[in-house]
Amino acid sequence: MRAHRKYSSIVAGAAAVSLLLAACGNNNNDNNATPGATSATSAAGAATQVEVFTWWTSGGEKAGLDGLVSVLADKYPNVEFINGAVAGGAGSAAKDLLQSRLQANAPPDTFQSHAGMELNDYIQAGQVQDISNLYTEFGLTDVFPQDLLDLLTVDGKIYSVPANIHRSNMVWANPTVLTDAGLDPAATYATMADWFTAMDAVQASGKTALSVATTWTQVNLLETVLMADLGAAGYVGLWDGTTDWAGSDMTAALQDFEKLMSYTNTDRDGLDWPDAAQMVIDGSAAFNVMGDWAAGEFQAQGLTAGTDYIYFPVPGTDSMFGFLADSFTLPVGAPHPDGVKAWLDVVGSLEGQTAFNVAKGSIPARTDADPTLFTPYQQSAIADFASKTIVPSLAHGAAAPTATLTAISDAVSKFTTGGSDLATFQDELVTAVG
Ligand code: GAL
Repeated sequence: MRAHRKYSSIVAGAAAVSLLLAACGNNNNDNNATPGATSATSAAGAATQVEVFTWWTSGGEKAGLDGLVSVLADKYPNVEFINGAVAGGAGSAAKDLLQSRLQANAPPDTFQSHAGMELNDYIQAGQVQDISNLYTEFGLTDVFPQDLLDLLTVDGKIYSVPANIHRSNMVWANPTVLTDAGLDPAATYATMADWFTAMDAVQASGKTALSVATTWTQVNLLETVLMADLGAAGYVGLWDGTTDWAGSDMTAALQDFEKLMSYTNTDRDGLDWPDAAQMVIDGSAAFNVMGDWAAGEFQAQGLTAGTDYIYFPVPGTDSMFGFLADSFTLPVGAPHPDGVKAWLDVVGSLEGQTAFNVAKGSIPARTDADPTLFTPYQQSAIADFASKTIVPSLAHGAAAPTATLTAISDAVSKFTTGGSDLATFQDELVTAVG
């Protein structure tokens, strides 16, 4: 329940969450004189390694990871990077495999975990170590937003280093497909109903209105509909027990989700998120709802925002920032703690955060990064993170424990594959969070 309280405070204190870069001054702790840098490279005078377990394998994800690896090579030439990435967006394959390894006492040296309830699971299971001392050693205590640090902290101890902040509630669209359907690409849609009208026009033009992929992307879509229809307070209430999952507002939101799914490609369950984004890139679909790692994907393909693709928050969620953050841990029993220490130093450093996020589509978790190094989309995300209401992503581990997310995902999959009607779907969601 403590994390629930934190989310409430995040929402209440959204205006206080600030990436006011100019005001933060130069807090650059990214230098080679830190004790961490010295000990990781000189431990036993020997080379070491670090197996980094992620699910970053697509264009923008891989490019971001490569950015971190190149900073590691510069700062810690004696630390060999071992890529433990397991393909599958949102960790759809990686998380189960990771759990097997943790339970078999064969952890990777470090693994990717979402700030919030997902990380909390690992902490409560005693699978990750307190790394508070590294925050002191690397000078990280003051470089991240306090609300983010709160999400990473349990009982005063901190268990991971955040690499970034992503936004989950974005639409990516193909302006040519919209124009061909008689729509104005510059149009904005205030409500879901307005958006449906536009989708009808796309459908009439013979294109897929909304591309989507396998279950987790449908859950990502669902969370944005819940944000739009319930509002920030109602959406946050789903996670702190103050919004009734069985209520009529929820029924109406699920009806909108059902309607949205009716506009999607039928081969969705065989696809992952890059495939659905590709449908927008190729011009076979008009819209795709996805977190802003899609921006990294468009960038990796050399596409230009404004002409090749456009973006806007999911209709009805303009005032919200669907928050998630990737962070890196030190698992209990990690075989190469010196290698992990070097990796965590790089992940938390200004240089590492810049190299990673420029390619990943996310914004740096650090508050002292230079915004001019980032794309116009990222600059807008930096501004939005400072000004919008921050709400936790369901699909990406911020809002709910993994067991709850799994139960919700099962209910979504059953519904979207025709295994349940809307009333049963809603009942199953009630049970999932029960
Ligand atoms: C999220 C993760 C992002 C991105 C995305 C798609 O869960 O936080 O960094 O990788 O999955 O795979």
